[in-house]
Amino acid sequence: MKRALITGASKRIGKAIAGFLAENGWSIVVHFNSSEKQAKELSETLQLKYPSQSFAIAKANLLNTDEVAELVPNIISRFGEFDLLINNASVFNGGAIKETPDDLFEMQMNVNLKAPFILMRDFAKHCKRGNIVNLVDTRITSNRSDFAAYSLSKKALWELTKMAALEFAPEIRVNAIAPGVTLPPADKDENYLNSLARKTPMKKAGGVEPILKSIGYILDNNHLTGQLLFADGGENLGTAPGFANQER
Ligand SMILES: NC(=O)c1ccc[n+]([C@@H]2O[C@H](COP(=O)([O-])OP(=O)(O)OC[C@H]3O[C@@H](n4cnc5c(N)ncnc54)[C@H](OP(=O)(O)O)[C@@H]3O)[C@@H](O)[C@H]2O)c1
Repeated sequence: MKRALITGASKRIGKAIAGFLAENGWSIVVHFNSSEKQAKELSETLQLKYPSQSFAIAKANLLNTDEVAELVPNIISRFGEFDLLINNASVFNGGAIKETPDDLFEMQMNVNLKAPFILMRDFAKHCKRGNIVNLVDTRITSNRSDFAAYSLSKKALWELTKMAALEFAPEIRVNAIAPGVTLPPADKDENYLNSLARKTPMKKAGGVEPILKSIGYILDNNHLTGQLLFADGGENLGTAPGFANQER
């Protein structure tokens, strides 16, 4: 039975990834931190829909290094080794360099970079074969500093993706997906999303579908490693003609 661990899978993009993988025959461990109710509901719904696969939840606060280090060994002791790690969980806080306090910097780095580092290391050590997919962000192509710590954490996660792809090959393939305008942040609505999306080359928000198709492509292509798929409607190329160019 092929099994995946998806971090931050109780809601939004992580939940959509769980649904997509379940539909494609995967058993899933839904990782969560604060969203226990949603994680349980998702796992139970998927279990009802796909009774021959197995679905479970696992809690870890990715800010806490001890909890992160226990996650992979705990899952293996409960279910055995698994075949796919998706580093999806993240925190997304704005602030230019001059406006970024130490604790915000540390939070971004711990959840978005250090936790994936530990999970990738432990997956490679204990599971020894399979796939890792890291969710980065099309912002990594830009030097805009409005989300300085977040953008740096994702730039570094992409560098880690390539480093791990080289070290872990050929047993483990490691790739990344860079979403663009996908879902509005929790405190913003669709209007906010659409106002950003109309400046992108494809002129609309992509929703989760381009991310899910990218995951399918990565899993199907067994010679692909160390690669980044932009699921961003061309946002990495620059601003659409007719809009003032944003500095990249
Ligand atoms: N949304 C977009 O438009 C967009 C654009 C570009 C890139 N991305 C990337 O795509 C991925 C998914 O995006 P999203 O918007 O769906 O993410 P999100 O809703 O902001 O966060 C996903 C999950 O991360 C978990 N998380 C946050 N802090 C945590 C902590 N300390 N410990 C453990 N888990 C923690 C949360 O789990 P709990 O709820 O259980 O606490 C949350 O549900 C992210 O890596 C993001 O950077 C998204």
